[in-house]
Amino acid sequence: MSPTAKHSPADTTIFRNSSMVLTAVGDGLGTIERGAVVIYDEKITWVGAESDLPSEALAGGREVDLGGRLLTPGLVDCHAHPVFAGRRADEFARRARGDHYLDIAREGGGIKATVSATRAASEEQLVELCKSRMNVALVWGTTSMEAKSGYDLSVEGELRLLRVAKRVGEEQPVTLYPTLLGAHALPPEFAGRREDFVHTVVSEMIPRAADEKLASAVDVYCDEGAFTLAETRQILEAARAQGLSTKAHIGQFADLGAAQLLAELGSLSGDHLEQVSRDGIAAMSKAGVVATMLPGACVQLKMSPPPVAKLRAAGVAMAIGSDLNPGTSYSESLPVPMWLATTHFGMSVEEAWLGVTRHAARALGAPDLGRIAAGCPADLVAWDAEIPAEVPYHFGANLVSTVWKAGKRAHGTI
Ligand code: NIG
Ligand code: FE
Repeated sequence: MSPTAKHSPADTTIFRNSSMVLTAVGDGLGTIERGAVVIYDEKITWVGAESDLPSEALAGGREVDLGGRLLTPGLVDCHAHPVFAGRRADEFARRARGDHYLDIAREGGGIKATVSATRAASEEQLVELCKSRMNVALVWGTTSMEAKSGYDLSVEGELRLLRVAKRVGEEQPVTLYPTLLGAHALPPEFAGRREDFVHTVVSEMIPRAADEKLASAVDVYCDEGAFTLAETRQILEAARAQGLSTKAHIGQFADLGAAQLLAELGSLSGDHLEQVSRDGIAAMSKAGVVATMLPGACVQLKMSPPPVAKLRAAGVAMAIGSDLNPGTSYSESLPVPMWLATTHFGMSVEEAWLGVTRHAARALGAPDLGRIAAGCPADLVAWDAEIPAEVPYHFGANLVSTVWKAGKRAHGTI
C-alpha cells in the first residue's frame, strides 16, 4: 500500500538521509543502507531504501534530515525497578571493598534498606524521583520501560508504587509497563511467617493489582536468600489465574530449577540466569521464554556471566535490561549494558541490539515495540553513529542525537 494514500500530508513525516536504518525485523538486524522511514501521526507507515520512496510520500509531508546518522527503534528496557526512594552508595562502597551483597542484605541492608526509604516517601516524591529517572532514560534512547514494584512489600504500598508507575508513564514520554514484584523480599513485619506473606501476595496483592488493572505482569525473586521454587510456583500460578503475564528473577546466585517452571507456565522471561542448568535452558527454548541478561548487576556483584553460548546454541532469544535499581545496578542506560554484554558476556553486536529492541519487546509482552515496520509505534532514535557497532564500541559516551516517541520529538534537536 502506498504510505500516504489515505493520510493527509500534513501529519506525515519522512525520515531521510540516514546512513542506515536498523529495523530489527527479519534475519539479523534487518538493516537498510540509506534507508528512509515514513510515519503518519503516531505510527510507522513505510520503511525501505530511500531510493524506493514512493513519489507521493515526497509531496507535502514534513521531512526530517538525519544528516547521515543511524536510525533505530526506540530502546526497550524490559527489566527495571525505577520506583524507589533513597540511595545505597554506602553498600556500593562496601562491596567495592569486598563485602558480599547477601551478607549486607542479611545485616538489614539491601532491598530492606530501600523498602524503609520508599515507605517513608510521599507519593509526590516517588513520582518526582521516578520522573527524573525517566528523563535520564529518554536521553539514553529508551522509549519504553518496565516498572516493577517491590520496594514496599505491603498490599497497599505495592499498589501505591504501581499507581506511581502508571502516573509517571502518563506524564512524560517514556511508556511504563508496571509489573507487580510483591515477592521481592520478606518484609520485616512477616519475619518468621513466610507462608503468611506468600498467602498475602497470592490472595490479596495479585487479585487487587489485577482488578484495579495496575499491572500486566507478576515477577518473583526466586533465588537463594529470596523465595523458593515452591513459593514462586504458588505466586506465578495465582498470577496466571488472574490473566496476568509471569516472569521471574532466577539463578542470580543459585539455580533453584525455576527455568523449567517458567517454561511450564509460558512465562515472558527468566531474568539474570548466571546459574541455569542445561535442562533449564532446553525448557526455556522449547517454550519460547526470553532470557533477560542483566550485565549491570552481574558485573557489579562480581558474578560469572550467564551461559550465553549455551543459550545461543539452544536458540533462546536473549534480551538485555538495565535492571535499574538502587542496589545492584543504579543506571538508566541501556547502551552501557550493551557494552558489557558484548565485551564481558560474549554477545555479538547483533545480539546486543536485538536484546534492547525486538527481544526486549517480547520480554515485555509488547511485541509491536522494538521494530521499525509498518503499523508499529513511531518510537525512533537517531544516533551520532553510522553503524550499529559504534554504540557499544564507544562505551560511556552517549551517542543519542534525537529521540521520537509516538511520532513526536521527545529529546534532541534534529
Ligand atoms: O534485580 N535481584 C533482585 N532485585 C534486584 C536488586 C534489588 C536491590 O538490591 O535493591 C536485581 O538485581
Ligand atoms: Fe531486577
